[in-house]
Amino acid sequence: MRVGVLTGGGDCPGLNAVIRAIVRRGVPEYGYSFLGFRDGWRGPLEALTKPLDIPAVRGLLPRGGTILGSSRTNPFALEDGVARIKHNLQNLGVDALIAIGGEDTLGVATKLHEMGVNVVGVPKTIDNDLAGTDYTFGFDTAVTIATEAIDRLHTTAESHHRTLIVEVMGRHAGWIALHSGMAGGANAILIPEVRFDIDQVCDWVESRFRLEYAPIIVVSEGAMPKDGDEVLLSGEKDAFGHVRLGGIGDWLGREIESRTGKEARTTVLGHVQRGGTPTSRDRWLATRFGLHAIDAVAAEKWGQMTALRGTDIVTVPLQEATAQLKLVDPALYAEAAVFFG
Ligand code: F6P
Repeated sequence: MRVGVLTGGGDCPGLNAVIRAIVRRGVPEYGYSFLGFRDGWRGPLEALTKPLDIPAVRGLLPRGGTILGSSRTNPFALEDGVARIKHNLQNLGVDALIAIGGEDTLGVATKLHEMGVNVVGVPKTIDNDLAGTDYTFGFDTAVTIATEAIDRLHTTAESHHRTLIVEVMGRHAGWIALHSGMAGGANAILIPEVRFDIDQVCDWVESRFRLEYAPIIVVSEGAMPKDGDEVLLSGEKDAFGHVRLGGIGDWLGREIESRTGKEARTTVLGHVQRGGTPTSRDRWLATRFGLHAIDAVAAEKWGQMTALRGTDIVTVPLQEATAQLKLVDPALYAEAAVFFG
């Protein structure tokens, strides 16, 4: 059997570890050959390929990014997208595809499976918002980077008696903000799932200053004030209809400064959260997902995705996993709120 592999959507530490594990088990154990597709769904759409064999995956475990490249190409945005993919897969002799991606990439995989393409999915996203799996790889790395940033910001905030705001990624789900904010001892954590009251945030800031500490506020890029909307970098949409978020941190800084009269500055962590080497936990999870993905191909579990449940790797229907996002549970948020102010 010849198996195609692609990585789509925003890149994520651990993608290369998945690719490595797929090939390292697939060649000796099942006798499969592999073909890498470049840049997400653009690869099968335009027949852009890269050889993928054991020498090609040497040294990949600690490497961030993806050797296959990524994109947010949506074949369903094109009239002949599906037909082109089917044609190219047949021409290249590819019998099955492993798609490694988040909600959009796996959403495409779900529909292609329903249209007769042999697909297995592997969940990835630093946002950890994919349903069906307890965790996605990349999340632990992003949280580790954000926590380290918060630790560093505490000391400079205290030296200058400033409010420091840290804007982290998380378009629809506040997992990165919640975990890094709790680990870093933030005085407020603002997430997309719970609209915030700016007066309440300013009260927390004031109370922190009264205790002779400097406040640290962690905010997800998709967080929204009670009576406002998401703050956008531009109105432009990608092929899946997502706008570019960004700016809520600066907005908060301006509001807090003008309402409290005390200096507030914002640090936007941005793509630093996605770049570089994965943590050992993400390497472990990504490797196990890769091993189980190739087993799923061997078992012809088409339309399934690998998932972490407790400490077990299982497979779940892609349809179930992509039907809705996994958002922060209000009870978890309430735990973090004990430390606000
Ligand atoms: O989906 C992962 C993610 O990092 C989100 O947290 C973020 O909103 C988005 O990708 C940013 O995408 P891009 O790098 O394309 O601007």
